[in-house]
Amino acid sequence: MDQIIEEAKERFGRLIEEQLKRVEGIKGQEDFINYDKLDRIIIGIIGGDGIGPAITGQAQRILEFLLREEIEKGRVRFSVIEGLTIEDRVRVMKAIPDGVLGELRRCHVILKGPTTTPRQGDPWPNVESANVAMRRELDLFANVRPVKVPENGIDWTFFRENTEGAYLLGSKGFHVNDDIAFDFKVITSPGAERIARSALEYAKGNGKKRVTIVTKANVVKTTDGKFLTICKEVGREYPEIEIDDWYIDIMAAKLLDENKRTEFEVFILPNLYGDILTDEAAQLQGGVGTVGSANIGKRYAMFEAIHGSAPRMVQEGRALYSDPSSIIRATSMLLNHIGYREKAETLDKALEICTRTERKLVITGRHTGATGQQFADYIMETIQS
Ligand code: IPM
Ligand code: MG
Repeated sequence: MDQIIEEAKERFGRLIEEQLKRVEGIKGQEDFINYDKLDRIIIGIIGGDGIGPAITGQAQRILEFLLREEIEKGRVRFSVIEGLTIEDRVRVMKAIPDGVLGELRRCHVILKGPTTTPRQGDPWPNVESANVAMRRELDLFANVRPVKVPENGIDWTFFRENTEGAYLLGSKGFHVNDDIAFDFKVITSPGAERIARSALEYAKGNGKKRVTIVTKANVVKTTDGKFLTICKEVGREYPEIEIDDWYIDIMAAKLLDENKRTEFEVFILPNLYGDILTDEAAQLQGGVGTVGSANIGKRYAMFEAIHGSAPRMVQEGRALYSDPSSIIRATSMLLNHIGYREKAETLDKALEICTRTERKLVITGRHTGATGQQFADYIMETIQS
């Protein structure tokens, strides 16, 4: 028994050592990159797995269409990055192969298709999720997910902490012996502070009056407690904004409460709760396929669809019918992030027309509906008209 404890202590000690270094890194970080000051913005494009290349290809066409002048002038350049498929990753047994990571680091922003995350029972060995690794490696700490259902009065923006919580050491838990398994959850002060500040700055800059913190601090007292305390502290610097806090279970219920849910505007959540609640919210908007997701850090930012790689659609030869709406929404968030706000608005309007008000084409995911290419053409025609 003593030996088991000694081994566990050693492992835990190493984790603490790594995290102490990481915290110092966060504290020493420079401020957000200013895209206006760059002569050239490099946009990385990653197709990913399954339907990823099909939908990302369509989003890239739209991006090239909207940025054609900037591309001609050399202000914007694309870097298409291959090699982030599950096969490539399994070959080197890395969440992100070194070559891909190197190429990512040469970009400013990245548009990314879904990548397969092996789960227990899959034919793939258990490599870590490429999303989770990318968020960590590029320190993309703010996962921003807007959800809007105007006819129901829903206009929410989720700020999910994207690097810590249950995810940070999600691949570093261990089996102490045959009977006991441990995972770790980590919250750091600068980690909680920067997500709170991002949400509050967003609220302030966008005329939002209320920011809601969601935890389970009544039970998970130490880490969720710390997250809540720090978010509230940062909130005090923004007296014009009302701060309230809820527990994740009742919050999940309140999103379904038609009378109550319209009161919420901006949410701040630790990683795992943010993961879950944003899927629930996305479902209210029309499904996870309709919501875009921004992963923002101080130096890098990555924009992605929030759904998976749908390998079955590829197996059944239906990839060309897959719906690119989610990654097109992510594309609009990318444009907005690098300073092309009008172009982002134009794209949002076209999406609204093509998916809600006019709907000349409908995507069904099979030959009964439009292809992704036809849908992208429809978006571009709508923008031009
Ligand atoms: C998301 C996804 C990822 C997550 C998976 C693919 C690891 O569900 O972006 O919400 O859990 O963060
Ligand atoms: Mg998720």
